[in-house]
Parts: sequence; structure tokens; C-alpha cells
Amino acid sequence: MGLILGIETSCDETAAAVVEGGRRILSNTVASQIPVHAPHGGVVPELASRHHIENICPVIEAALAEAGVGFTDLEAVAVTQGPGLVGSLLVGVQAAKGIALVHRLSLVPVHHVAGHVEATFLAHGEIPLPALALVVSGGHTSLYRVPEEGVLERLGRTRDDAAGEAFDKVAKLLGLGYPGGPIIDRLSEGADADAVPFAIARMKDGSPDFSFSGIKTAVLLYVRREGIDPVDDAGDVPPPVKDLVASFQRAVVDALVRGLTRAAREHHPRSLLLAGGVAANSRLRREAATAAAAVGLPLFVPPLALSTDNAAMIAAAGFVNLRRGVRGSWDLNAEPHLALG
Ligand code: KG4
Ligand code: ZN
Repeated sequence: MGLILGIETSCDETAAAVVEGGRRILSNTVASQIPVHAPHGGVVPELASRHHIENICPVIEAALAEAGVGFTDLEAVAVTQGPGLVGSLLVGVQAAKGIALVHRLSLVPVHHVAGHVEATFLAHGEIPLPALALVVSGGHTSLYRVPEEGVLERLGRTRDDAAGEAFDKVAKLLGLGYPGGPIIDRLSEGADADAVPFAIARMKDGSPDFSFSGIKTAVLLYVRREGIDPVDDAGDVPPPVKDLVASFQRAVVDALVRGLTRAAREHHPRSLLLAGGVAANSRLRREAATAAAAVGLPLFVPPLALSTDNAAMIAAAGFVNLRRGVRGSWDLNAEPHLALG
């Protein structure tokens, strides 16, 4: 019982997964579109929707086959309703509606960010609550109070770029490839993270918000001032560029960890959660663990495959929504700017 098919198509990954009881992953299939978008240095929405259409049926079939279940074994279909790219979201939402209608299953809408936070529960089981969750991805950088599983109260967010977006833009301006986060993470290994004294200012009004557009500009100005040319082969990056991206990564991670620690001191949670694609960053994982130990709280981070976009987190969040009575009707629509709650 409690078998949920999750579908996620909010950005450039076509993903489907089967999860039992919101905790046991039977399959977790992702068709990545990175090779499609890499030549453009970012996601091209029109290409993304077209590839979702091509991939959605094979990915769902693969997820069911790997789990060894058929549509009739399922209790519900959970799908990312938003936020995200409208053309991408629509493909998942229409697929989920079709499956639910034909096989008489419950249809459960899921908020993408709630899915990211749920990945920590999926990976670690019971988590001491209330928790404080930092969600850092290509589209979001927000801090939430989590009073109970499936409930998020926002405390702060980025006022401009998301942290992952800053990683991707800095990699693009240096000619390092797409997506920038994993590339910068890898290039920073062994480089001098103190080489360039980048810093991210705190909010003047003392709010727990973030801002990452300034550091992107600081990197651009540094590159111009120092006459650094974009590299054309990410496999052959000169040491000063490695030091530059390591310094950028240090500044971003410092700002994120500072925000998390400050909120922990203010809100007295019983645990800290780190979720979203940027939670795959090795420096952020390390620094967040050190900061959590310093404030005496356990830190829960999903494994890499559950940090970046996937459908297992959507199926797990769908299970929670279903138990709370959340159901989608047949006029469920993709919501590119879907609000939480
Ligand atoms: O959660 P996600 O897969 O998609 C969104 O919901 O946006 O996050 C993708 C973002 C991209 O910006 C990517 O560069 C970043 O996560 N990312 C990383 C790492 N792996 C992925 N950023 C820093 N370090 C990484 N290792
Ligand atoms: Zn995401």
C-alpha cells in the first residue's frame, strides 16, 4: 500500500519514480537534458519542453519496470505543479492527469520546493522537529521553518539571483560549461579559496534574506580588470581561474552558512536541513556540517541523487500531501509561479 508514482518536469530533467509509504524508493529514473542545453550555457525553455515530450513516456515506463509494478498497483500519481518553466511543467502535469484519469488513481499536486525539503525525510526517516531548512537550487535560495513534515514557513529568500544561478552564470562567463555548480565544485578542489577576497554583504535591514547578483558582478569586474580570458576547454583550466572560482564558491558558501547559523540561533530548531541542487556542493556540505556542530544541532542532507531534481522527492512529498487530504482535480494546471501552501 501507499505506492506513489512521482513525476517531475519543472526544469530540464524528465524524472519519474515509485516510492512506497513516502520512505522506500523502488525506482528513481532521471533523463537529463544537460547535453541539449550545455551548448547554450543555460536551459532553453522551448528545447526543454520538446525533450520532456519525447522523454516522458519512456521515463515513466522505466520507473514502473524498475519498481516491478504496474499502474493498477499505484495509490496515486504525484506531480510537480510548480514553480518552474511553464512549458516543462505542463508535460508532467498532463501526463499525470492522463494516468490518474485512465487508471482511476488519486492525483496529487506537489510544490517543487516542498519536494526538495521532503528529500531529507526520504533519505533520513524521522527528523527532530521543528527543523530549519535551507533550500538552495538553480531557481531558489530560501530558508524555512519546518514545524511538521510537509509544512514550510518561509523566513527568508534571495532578493535577486538564486545561489545555483550565480554558479551557472559565473561558469558561463568564464567559458567553463553548463551546469556551472558541479564544474566549479570540481575545479575548486585543491585551489586557493582565499586568493580573491570576495565577500557577500549582509542585508542592511538585518533581514534573513540573501543576495547573489553582486558577487556575480564582482567576478565579472575582476575578470575584466585582470584581463582573464574565458577558457575554451574546461579540462584545461589555468590555476588563477581555479583560484578565482574557489574564492567565489567560498564567498557563496560563507553567506549561505552564515544565514543558516543566524536563523538557528534566532529560531531554536531541533535540526537543520540542507536541500536542493546546490546542497550537492562539497564545500557547502562540509561547512554546514561544521556550523551545525558549532550550534549543537544535527544536520540532515540528502545524498547527491536526491539533492538535484528527481521524482522520488516528488512521490514522497505527494504521499505526505495525500495523507493531509491534498488532491488535484481534473482542471489542475501548471503554475510557473506557484506559492507555497
Ligand atoms: O535542484 P536543482 O537540480 O534544480 C532546480 O530546482 O533549480 O538545482 C540545479 C542547480 C544548478 O544551478 C547547478 O549548478 C547546481 O544546482 N548544482 C551545484 C552543484 N551541483 C548542482 N552547485 C554547486 N555545487 C554543486 N556540486
Ligand atoms: Zn529543483
